Amino acid sequence: RGEMTVGELSKSLHKDVSEVIKKLLHLGVMANINQELDLETIQLLATDFGVEVEMKIPVDEDNFELILETDEDGDLSERPPVVTIMGHVDHGKTTLLDAIRQTSVTEGEAGGITQHIGAYQTEVHGKKITFLDTPGHEAFTTMRARGAKVTDITILVVAADDGVMPQTVEAINHAKAANVPILIAINKIDKPGANIDRIKQELTEYALVPEEWGGDTVYVEVSAKQRLGLEHLLEMILLVAEVQELKANPNKRARGTVIEAQLDKGKGPVVHVLIQNGTLRVGDSFVAGVCFGRVRAMVNDKGKKIKEAGPSTPVEITGLNEVPQAGDPFLCYEDERKARNIAERRAITLRQSEIGANTRVTLDDLYKQI
Ligand code: GTP
Ligand code: MG
Repeated sequence: RGEMTVGELSKSLHKDVSEVIKKLLHLGVMANINQELDLETIQLLATDFGVEVEMKIPVDEDNFELILETDEDGDLSERPPVVTIMGHVDHGKTTLLDAIRQTSVTEGEAGGITQHIGAYQTEVHGKKITFLDTPGHEAFTTMRARGAKVTDITILVVAADDGVMPQTVEAINHAKAANVPILIAINKIDKPGANIDRIKQELTEYALVPEEWGGDTVYVEVSAKQRLGLEHLLEMILLVAEVQELKANPNKRARGTVIEAQLDKGKGPVVHVLIQNGTLRVGDSFVAGVCFGRVRAMVNDKGKKIKEAGPSTPVEITGLNEVPQAGDPFLCYEDERKARNIAERRAITLRQSEIGANTRVTLDDLYKQI
């Protein structure tokens, strides 16, 4: 068969039709459920969803069979949750992230200097938690707008002496739109003006009803500054994660999302990737957005050189041809030639859709249509 409809593709990818249509809009293609898609579009879409499409022989354009890779239950094992911290300005997001990081540094690797690589991992009771150190709303918005789902849990920080503010509401809306569970950290409980009940009351208006009031939202009271309640917060994260049953298949080629990237004078393009499935190894060929390369060196969040990285691991890698963008999909292929091929085709399609999109609709318009 030469083609697949939008409906068939979404079924094969285990995605909602609306999600597939949204991605297509993103690529500048207006489509309905019965629309037939060509191989090129299918491959691009699948790449964006982090699924590799293989063509089975015969490979001529009009007669191919698509193999969409999926994980069988038996291939899956538990993976650490990926957590993002959000909240209003000055409510203590950075202080909280630092406090958690330092707690783990002093507990775990004594004397270890944690290097900032856009994300870090911490360990509680032998279980890992990955924190995305891009707590800004902008990063979250960009990633979500580009269709990348990287977060499993959102921690909403609300200062006990201040209450629900505009960016608190914004964060709630983001998390809800992305279907990510929210865990509330009421911060600054050490302050004289702290009023915990008032915060709970205010958040109840956003359907975030505390468990102790009969709801299902977890609230944790903390002081990032005095390092109070951090253990409890970490335990609650693990609890929420347990319910989610987060799994991945470490025994295949890696895929993930670009968290940030820049050009380093000495090392060339450097990219921070969150591995979401599979295992990434030094020497692997990959596509990152419209860039490609082979992993030359890989460094973990502690600044240590590593040879491989499994699901939910944030890593810094070098070996790309150019600098990709935050939110770009990252996908490994069997060889560099294929990676280069995919990257180049992505570049052409995206350029075309950008030309079209600029004159027709903005991204905002696109989302309003869904
Ligand atoms: P932005 O990045 O600007 O949005 O702010 P933020 O949410 O990262 O807040 P940040 O961590 O920078 O903290 C803002 C101020 O609140 C700083 O002066 C912190 O020292 C203070 N602060 C943070 N947590 C606590 C706390 O638990 N107790 C007290 N008393 N002060 C805190
Ligand atoms: Mg901050």
